[in-house]
Amino acid sequence: MTIVKTISEIRALRQKLKGSVGFVPTMGFLHEGHLALVKRAKAENSAVIVSIYVNPAQFGPREDFGAYPRDLDRDLELLRKEGTDIVFVPSDDEMYPHEFSSWVDVEKVAERLEGASRPGHFRGVATIVAKLFNIVQPTRAYFGQKDAQQVVVIKRMVADLSMNPEVVIVPTVRENDGLAMSSRNVYLSPRERQAATILFKALTLARQLRRDGEKDAEKIRRKMTALIRKEPLAQIDYVSIADAGTLEELDLIDRPAVASLAVRIGKTRLIDNMPLE
Ligand code: PAJ
Repeated sequence: MTIVKTISEIRALRQKLKGSVGFVPTMGFLHEGHLALVKRAKAENSAVIVSIYVNPAQFGPREDFGAYPRDLDRDLELLRKEGTDIVFVPSDDEMYPHEFSSWVDVEKVAERLEGASRPGHFRGVATIVAKLFNIVQPTRAYFGQKDAQQVVVIKRMVADLSMNPEVVIVPTVRENDGLAMSSRNVYLSPRERQAATILFKALTLARQLRRDGEKDAEKIRRKMTALIRKEPLAQIDYVSIADAGTLEELDLIDRPAVASLAVRIGKTRLIDNMPLE
């Protein structure tokens, strides 16, 4: 496994690779969710490149950029075990040099839900992913369903800007009690960790209501909201039943939909989602 820090180094290595390249962009502090992406990339490509970069541009001024968990040695060990070929670990100066002033702004789909709660977040995500695609030039790029809106934004960007990579979506990996794996779960105290299961319970309720034939999106939102309010440590940011392709809120569920939510457990903001067949 080769570890590189500069754009020129990774470009040189990339040029020598023959066959398909699978790419997994991450912010590190890896868990089984990230590793599911790496395993899939490994199975489907001749070589696998993983990036680890906590991208300052996608954090708001009052968000957890400084506190975001980091453990590079552990991450590299996990990636080595998965048979990763190249790990790209750039510095801030490498990614955002002094004069940096070009941004990728995806409209509409990036303005709802996470975009409304976290202004500028998807501008930071789209810009760094566009840069990474230009640097790594992957055949396929792997993203988790865990971040459902990120997936929609990246797919929109790739289509609109005629980018090359095929975007592959990997299902959400969960803990035994349903909590979606996330680097941010380490922020939770034992009591909060227990309370955090309310997200999965609310999503499971939505799926069950839909399976029982409910088509009124507002009724499902209301029942999810009522359930979450029973957990004293939980503070709802949003509860959404939206078109799975555009993330526009639905009144009538007459097409593929996704239930998604953002909930604060104490100071920790968690997101999760579940496709409703
Ligand atoms: P990060 O939060 O580190 O996630 C990296 C990738 O792992 C994302 O595609 C995310 O959806 C996926 N992932 C995280 N938890 C998962 C889980 N429980 N199951 C399946 N996949 C999971 O997302 C980012 O970083 C950044 O925004 C990034 C795309 C790297 C741009 O900076």
